[in-house]
Amino acid sequence: MNIQALAKQALEAQKMSYSPYSKFRVGAALLTKSGKVFTGCNIESASYTPTICAERVAIAKAVSEGEREFEAIAVTGDGDWTYPCGVCRQVMREFAPDLLVIVVKSETEYREHRLSELLPYSFGPEDLTEAKGE
Ligand code: THU
Repeated sequence: MNIQALAKQALEAQKMSYSPYSKFRVGAALLTKSGKVFTGCNIESASYTPTICAERVAIAKAVSEGEREFEAIAVTGDGDWTYPCGVCRQVMREFAPDLLVIVVKSETEYREHRLSELLPYSFGPEDLTEAKGE
């Protein structure tokens, strides 16, 4: 896996951000186990709540194209270090509990984390199959 190339794709995707309200641009690049990359940017709405984060755009693009197995996601934003929000962490967890999350500051500065570290004691699909209710 070429982490630097993935970081670059996230930085490229950030340029597509539609964020006229927050003016906070985010980009993501998701690497599938099959080696494909799906990118995403945040897309805001005048009614605010329909706003979707860059990470979830990338995941939705991948899943809607039949890809459900993910290796890594690179994320970059206008913050110093922009980490994925809680909602995005949960959506990542659905498909890849141990996803490699690369938080990108620049083409050469990035941090590597495992999703299990960013979302410990998480809730996922297995919890529902183990349900004991009637
Ligand atoms: N945002 C993302 O795209 N990803 C995150 O993980 C954090 C937040 C976006 C949503 C909104 O458009 C802007 O950043 C400010 O919250």
